[in-house]
Amino acid sequence: MPGTRTLTIIKPDAFGAGKAGKIIAHLEGAGFRIVAARVVRLTTAQAEAFYAVHRERPFFRSLTTFMTSGPCMPMILERADAVAALRKTIGATDPAEAEPGTVRKLYAESKERNAIHASDSDENAEREARFFFAEADTI
Ligand code: CMP
Repeated sequence: MPGTRTLTIIKPDAFGAGKAGKIIAHLEGAGFRIVAARVVRLTTAQAEAFYAVHRERPFFRSLTTFMTSGPCMPMILERADAVAALRKTIGATDPAEAEPGTVRKLYAESKERNAIHASDSDENAEREARFFFAEADTI
């Protein structure tokens, strides 16, 4: 999916607080089309695998505990220049540093409980999309 697709997750803080609808509306308003979506509660093994790149970080255990604390909503989104456009739309990792009007500025609680995930490259978008979805799950 070079260039046009990316993977997002509405994280357990935002999903559990009933913010999924507003966040999806925000993403659609920014020009993204949902091509796959599901609601899932990650196991610890799944969260550790998804965030394996952060395994050595001091926040790894806390991050996987948070990501398994309740249901979340992974989605594959489509738009031109999808990876960069989504990262701009959601804002900086820490909501205190996020631009006004971004998803994290509007809906995130903290640097860890930051409402939403976005792939950081086309390569990771492909890997992360395949983590949650089979080819047959996308339209
Ligand atoms: P995400 O975009 O999903 O990628 C990795 C996640 O780790 C990030 O969002 C945050 O939820 C979390 N994270 C990154 N940096 C920190 C940090 N310094 N302290 C706690 N959590 C962090």
